[in-house]
Amino acid sequence: MTARVYTIASGKGGTGKTTVTLNLGTALAMYGKKTIALDADIGMANLGLLLGLEKNKITLHEVLSGTAKIEEAIYEGPAGLKVVPSGLSLKGFQNSNPDALRQVMIKITEGMDFVLIDAPAGISKDGVIPLAVADKVILVVNPELASMADALKTKALTEMLGRTVEGVILNRAIFEKTEISSNKVSELLGLKVLEMIPEDPNVRRSAAFKVPIVIRSPKSPASIAFMRVAALLAGEKYKEINTKVDKDTFVDRLARSIFGGK
Ligand SMILES: Nc1ncnc2c1ncn2[C@@H]1O[C@H](COP(=O)(O)OP(=O)(O)OP(=O)(O)O)[C@@H](O)[C@H]1O
Ligand SMILES: [Mg+2]
Repeated sequence: MTARVYTIASGKGGTGKTTVTLNLGTALAMYGKKTIALDADIGMANLGLLLGLEKNKITLHEVLSGTAKIEEAIYEGPAGLKVVPSGLSLKGFQNSNPDALRQVMIKITEGMDFVLIDAPAGISKDGVIPLAVADKVILVVNPELASMADALKTKALTEMLGRTVEGVILNRAIFEKTEISSNKVSELLGLKVLEMIPEDPNVRRSAAFKVPIVIRSPKSPASIAFMRVAALLAGEKYKEINTKVDKDTFVDRLARSIFGGK
C-alpha cells in the first residue's frame, strides 16, 4: 500500500500552508493514520521551526543535495506524526536539487497512509515540483481577492501538470460582511471548499510554544476545524479527541497577555 500524497499549496504567501500542513498532519496522526509531513519550502523553511526541530543537522536540504538519505531526515513529531524538515541555511538551499524530490517520494510513501507536502508560495521551480508529485493538491486561501487570484493561477498550473485540486481550505475566516463568503470562493475558483478555518489567536500562541494547536488547544475553533478536515480526508467520523492539555503555567498566562485570547 502506498500513501495518498497531498500537496498543500496556495500561490500567495502567508495564507497558512505550513500551519495547515502541521495541524492536518497531526490530526491525521491522531486519527491513527500513518502520516508524514515534508517541508518542500526549501527556500523559506518553516515547518521544523514550528516544532523546534531546527537544531537537527540532516534535513531535506542534505537529501536533495545527495549528502544524506531520506531515512536520516525523518524525525518524530507530535502524536506519531513523522516530519521531514528543511534546513534554514541559504547555502543548503542553493545546493538542493528540487528535481530530486521525485526520488524522495518513491521512498517516503512506503507503508504510510498520508504524505503531506508543505509547498512554497509562488510558481518557481521549487514550487512546481511539489505540485507535480502530488496525487491531489489542496489550496489554502484567505477570504480576500489577492489570495483568490493567486489560487486560481496555482489551480491552472496544477492542471497543466496533469494533477487535480482536491479542494480549498479557507483559512483565517473572520465571518465579516466584507470578506468573500465560502460560496463565492467555491464559485470563483470552481472548487469545493473542504473546510473553513477561523482566525484564531491560539494558532500563533501554539506556534510560539512549538506545539500544534490541535494538541495544545484541542477545543479551540481552529482545532475543531482541523480535526474535521482530517476526518473528511481520512474517511473517519469527526470526533473530539481528548488530549492532555498543559497546565496553565506562568508562561501560558504571559502568552495570553501578549497574544490575547481566552
Ligand atoms: N487560522 C489562523 N488564525 C490565526 N493566525 C493564523 C491562522 N493561520 C495561520 N496563521 C498565522 O499566519 C501566519 C502565516 O501562516 P503560515 O506560516 O502557516 O503561512 P504559509 O502559507 O506557510 O506562509 P509562507 O507562504 O510564508 O510559507 C503565521 O504567523 C500563522 O501563525
Ligand atoms: Mg510556509
